Amino acid sequence: MPNFIVIGAGVSGLTTSLELLKANPQNRIKLISKQIPTDFLFNSNYTSPFAGANWESFATHEDKWQQEIDLVAYHKFKELAKVPESGVVNRVNTVWITKEKFKQDKEVVDYPWFSAVPEMNFKKLKPQDDKIAYGYSFDGVVISTTYYLSYLWNECHRIGGPSNRFTLQRATVKSLTDLTFDESSPDFIINCTGLLARDLVSPAESTKLYTVRGVTILVENNLDQLYVVETAEPNYPDEMLYIMPRKEGGCVVGGCMETGKDFETTVSQEQRDRILRRAKLYVPQLFDASGEVSIVREQVGFRPAREGGIRLELDDEFGKLHSGTGVALIHNYGHGGYGYQASYGCAEKVVGIVNDHLSGKKSTLKRQFKF
Ligand SMILES: Cc1cc2nc3c(=O)[nH]c(=O)nc-3n(C[C@H](O)[C@H](O)[C@H](O)COP(=O)(O)OP(=O)(O)OC[C@H]3O[C@@H](n4cnc5c(N)ncnc54)[C@H](O)[C@@H]3O)c2cc1C
Ligand SMILES: *[C@@H]1O[C@H](CO)[C@@H](O)[C@H](O)[C@H]1NC(C)=O
Ligand SMILES: *[C@@H]1O[C@H](CO)[C@@H](O)[C@H](O)[C@H]1NC(C)=O
Repeated sequence: MPNFIVIGAGVSGLTTSLELLKANPQNRIKLISKQIPTDFLFNSNYTSPFAGANWESFATHEDKWQQEIDLVAYHKFKELAKVPESGVVNRVNTVWITKEKFKQDKEVVDYPWFSAVPEMNFKKLKPQDDKIAYGYSFDGVVISTTYYLSYLWNECHRIGGPSNRFTLQRATVKSLTDLTFDESSPDFIINCTGLLARDLVSPAESTKLYTVRGVTILVENNLDQLYVVETAEPNYPDEMLYIMPRKEGGCVVGGCMETGKDFETTVSQEQRDRILRRAKLYVPQLFDASGEVSIVREQVGFRPAREGGIRLELDDEFGKLHSGTGVALIHNYGHGGYGYQASYGCAEKVVGIVNDHLSGKKSTLKRQFKF
């Protein structure tokens, strides 16, 4: 019986819908969203299609909770790499740290927490040339985001469609109070609104939300593995290099993590040149014999970040305000630069919060995400 309204059809809302459908054959989902995966023109308020995307957890060595969350999606993506239509492909993920970056890090060698996870096949690498201080590789994935979002959406329909447990509705939610499911109140509303959570949250909450601008260049050229190069450039401290070869061919080349640039939706010639210059310096094999790349398009996306990290919890205030209706509100927004790699772990937590709520247990979940 539980009826859910999930708001948002980004990777967070779609994964949450799918995991709720799988968790209980009684769960019914109405997914309401302004933008959906098949939209022809991407909108800069809809982040998910713009991502690279890979799995490379940012969790610190101490943050076991986030490590646990991220590990869930690692295993899921490895399974999905066996599903041809998912858009997920296995790729060796190589990371180089340049000498300048190493100096900036006070010459501390830092291997990520997942170096200890046996199935990742983590390897320390000898520097490929004298620009590099050290490097490592592991068995990673690349997710072709537009394919993958459509795949998630189709999976929701495949599992929930025939029994009418899943419907998708394009609409903009203006207020939560008058949302209905089959003409009565839903049991749960799940807030997966990414950047636009800003429009619907309290003023105090909305000041915690900010964007992290990302620029990528989609090229036709191919590589056999994924490269991340951590660079340090005094004038562009928010820029780095990553190149992600996609399943269908071609690579995504990035990029940057810039705050305070909400309205810069186009790429300057200078920034494009810097990204490509870095690619040529560290990964020259991307370029063809005449030193060129063939550009398909450039993209600017905005990672929906939040001070203190993802908001993943039952909203007690909302519960008190609407106690008469019995509607519960659960938040799952503010995923910053890691919405794909955290997607399944967060969806699993939402299922846990739902189950605790239905059985009258107080959820013990604590938010411990750090961006
Ligand atoms: C360049 C770039 C590279 C990235 N690389 C990676 C990577 O390698 N790995 C990784 O894990 N992550 C990566 N990310 C981050 C990742 O893309 C985001 O964390 C993720 O897409 C956020 O998803 P979301 O579902 O929370 O939000 P969104 O995708 O923005 O979805 C929000 C949805 O809510 C809807 N919505 C909002 N408000 C309303 C409303 N009031 N009514 C109805 N609908 C509403 C919108 O229409 C939209 O469908 C990258 C991001 C960028 C920009
Ligand atoms: C994104 O959302 C904001 C706030 O709702 C709106 O002002 C802006 O026009 C939107 N941008 C696009 C490209 O639709
Ligand atoms: C998201 O959370 C805020 C904060 O409680 C709430 O006010 C807002 O209505 C929610 N938005 C959606 C779309 O659920």
